[in-house]
Amino acid sequence: MSNAQLGFITLGIESSCDETAIGLYHSEQGLLAHQLFSQVDIHAEYGGVVPELASRDHIRRTIPLIKAVLARADLTLKDISGIAYTAGPGLAGALLVGSAVAKSLSWSLGIPALAVHHMEGHLLAPLLEDDKPKFPFVALLVSGGHTMLIDVEAIGAYTILGESLDDAVGEAFDKTAKILGLGYPGGPALADLATRGRAGAFKFPRPMIDRPGLDFSFSGLKTFARNTFAKHPAQKPDIAKAFEVAATQTLMIKCRRALEQTGRSTLVVAGGVSANLSLRTELNAMGLKVNANVYYPRQEFCTDNGAMIALAGHFRLTQGAHDTSHEVNIKPRWSLEELPTAVNV
Ligand code: KG4
Ligand code: ZN
Repeated sequence: MSNAQLGFITLGIESSCDETAIGLYHSEQGLLAHQLFSQVDIHAEYGGVVPELASRDHIRRTIPLIKAVLARADLTLKDISGIAYTAGPGLAGALLVGSAVAKSLSWSLGIPALAVHHMEGHLLAPLLEDDKPKFPFVALLVSGGHTMLIDVEAIGAYTILGESLDDAVGEAFDKTAKILGLGYPGGPALADLATRGRAGAFKFPRPMIDRPGLDFSFSGLKTFARNTFAKHPAQKPDIAKAFEVAATQTLMIKCRRALEQTGRSTLVVAGGVSANLSLRTELNAMGLKVNANVYYPRQEFCTDNGAMIALAGHFRLTQGAHDTSHEVNIKPRWSLEELPTAVNV
């Protein structure tokens, strides 16, 4: 008997930015296989993502990656029960590739396809781990495009408590890294440089912490880094350290405030910047102080991946949710608050 007869197998397709990623999630056995192809080398020489190059590479990579992931799980296309694809938010041309492949497979195989919200994928990624957070919780989503605090009552029942008014924190890491002459993508490189910096050599501001509310602003930190670098060009590691401390403490202070405000005792942290070890140290220490449990995805599922899209799709597809037409469908701008609640997960 094939795997598919024993449960529901979701194929997840992620193509919203600069990673082509595929995951296969089984309703009884969990994650079966996943793989990604990073476009870092393609965009590095331009210092950032070039949308047209991203789209073209997703076209080259998506189908071979689906084949590779199926082979890894010892399955064939016929074993797939449903297809989840990232419909947004993201780069329109890049999203079109994943959607077109998903809808073509759905039509030809006669199985459902479902548009998945990229940030819901990130938000649910910690549920791929054995030690899973329990609902309800507060989620901090920190990626290259978003910085959000969300009250999560259940899957799909999201209230945005606060978000960045300007740069996302990942974007601020990337831009500051660029100022310091580090390559793209800058976040991990800046974090690495900061490990060699001296704490307290420079004091950067903690933006918006003295204002009430849970919104963020990170563009000022980047400007502060630029001005400090102009005056002290020989102290790159110290500047990286001061930036990282200011950014992570600001996130920690707002998370503590969100937990107090909502009365929740579980914090879920996800998105590319949740890979940052200084951020994890800050948040874990805060969690201990306020008696909150803090959950993260494993490192490889912090940044974009296909497993999180397969998982988010699995929860909804197995409840019967699916796209109602075979038309290619993307939502480059899409609020988490528009998603319907998924019941009985
Ligand atoms: O979630 P993600 O892979 O893509 C988006 O949905 O945006 O996040 C990518 C972001 C980039 O800005 C990258 O620099 C940042 O996450 N990032 C980090 C680290 N790893 C990735 N920032 C700080 N420290 C890290 N270790
Ligand atoms: Zn992402």
